[in-house]
Formats: sequence, C-alpha cells, structure tokens
Amino acid sequence: MSTAELRVARDEFQRFLLEYRFGLQEVETKIAILRDEFQYMHDYNPIEHVSSRVKSPDSIVEKVARKGIEPGFDAIRERITDIAGIRITTSFTADAYRLFDLLTAQDDITVLRVKDYIAEPKPNGYKSLHAIVEVPVFLSTGPVNVPVEVQFRTIAMDFWASLEHKIYYKFERQVPAELLGELKDAADSAAVLDARMERLHRELHGSGGRPPVSSRILTV
Ligand code: GTP
Ligand code: MG
Repeated sequence: MSTAELRVARDEFQRFLLEYRFGLQEVETKIAILRDEFQYMHDYNPIEHVSSRVKSPDSIVEKVARKGIEPGFDAIRERITDIAGIRITTSFTADAYRLFDLLTAQDDITVLRVKDYIAEPKPNGYKSLHAIVEVPVFLSTGPVNVPVEVQFRTIAMDFWASLEHKIYYKFERQVPAELLGELKDAADSAAVLDARMERLHRELHGSGGRPPVSSRILTV
C-alpha cells in the first residue's frame, strides 16, 4: 500500500467515525432538552448522569474479529450498532421508562431494536433498558441515518453494572461460580433498594408531575 493509499484509508475511517460522533451529538441534545424542559416544567430533573462515547477503533476491530464480520465499512455499519453509545442514569426506574418513551416518540427517531433487561434481567442480574435508535444527521453531502445505542438505567443498576464489568474483565470472562452468586445477590439488593427509594419518592411527590409546595420545601 502506498502512503497516499494509507492516507485515504485513514481519512475514510475518520470520516466513518465522524458520522457516529454527530449522531451522538444529536441524541445528546435531545436528552439535554428533555432534561431542561423537565426541570422547567416540573421543577424536577429525572436524569442523574449522562455519558457517551464513540467506540474506539481498537474495540471496533476486536468486535469485527469476534463476530466474524466482513471487514468493510458497509458490513460494519450494518452489524455493529453500538459504535455510538449513550448511557442515561436516572434516580428511579419509572424515569428510565419515561425518558425512553419521550425519546423514542420523537418523529425523527426510528427505533431499530429494544432489549428490556429491566423487565427481564439477564441471568447474572444485569438490568438496563437498551434501545438502538436511528437518528438523521445532515451533512453537506446529504442526510445519513446513524444508529445510536441508548442505555437507560438507575444509579443502583449502574453501580452494579460497573462493578460486574470490572470483575468480568479481571477474570477474563471466567468469573468463579461463588463470585457470580454474590453478584446475583448484590443485583437483588440493588433492586430492593430501587423499589424502596422509588416508594419513598412517590410518598413525597405523588406519582408524577410537580410536587406540592410543602413537600418541595423538604426536598433537596
Ligand atoms: P454486545 O455484542 O456486547 O454489544 O451485546 P449485544 O449486541 O447482545 O447487546 P446487549 O444489548 O446485550 O448489550 C449491549 C451492551 O450492554 C454491552 O456492550 C454492555 O455495555 C451492556 N451489557 C450487556 N450485558 C451486560 C452485563 O451482563 N454486564 C454489564 N456490566 N454490562 C452489560
Ligand atoms: Mg455492545
């Protein structure tokens, strides 16, 4: 390969990733608008934290190899739908669903796939609501639809998932059975905590909307 060809390949790959960066920005803006509007209308912020990332070239290559994907842009675009990823952490489960509903109801969002691991947790205890959505990005060359993986979960689910992730990689995907059992127990405790916190929250605020003034004074 000549240096010129190498440059072309590099530029093509950078351009390929750029579309995902833009797709992420579009969804991030939508989430920020929902958050700000909620704060304004209901004096309540359903979002604790938002994080996003474009998958690194390293992990794209790793996934291409692991899934036996033909190494070309079209096949990668088609088969790897989590190149752009955004994670929305909420205080309560109800907020995770509410944000999912509000995002996916938007006219320019197409839902490609949903996995509800909150309703049906994975055997290890993992809980989260996943959606692959497609968002249009308007480039100088015309519009492109970009898939973005959006994960909705509570703080407790997120706390569990980040620890599980570390353990999983520490043991190179072969976690000892005893530790798996403890993780499952911890996931159950997290679910109990979520339910308790949500019940307390409802007692203070009612089932939704703006809380009465007296309870708002008590709220931090
Ligand atoms: P991947 O090929 O890993 O992307 O899985 P998938 O295409 O079957 O999608 P799935 O919706 O199951 O998982 C997508 C993402 O959710 C993963 O990349 C992780 O970020 C997260 N995830 C899924 N399962 C687990 C789990 O058991 N533990 C943790 N910590 N994260 C998980
Ligand atoms: Mg993934």
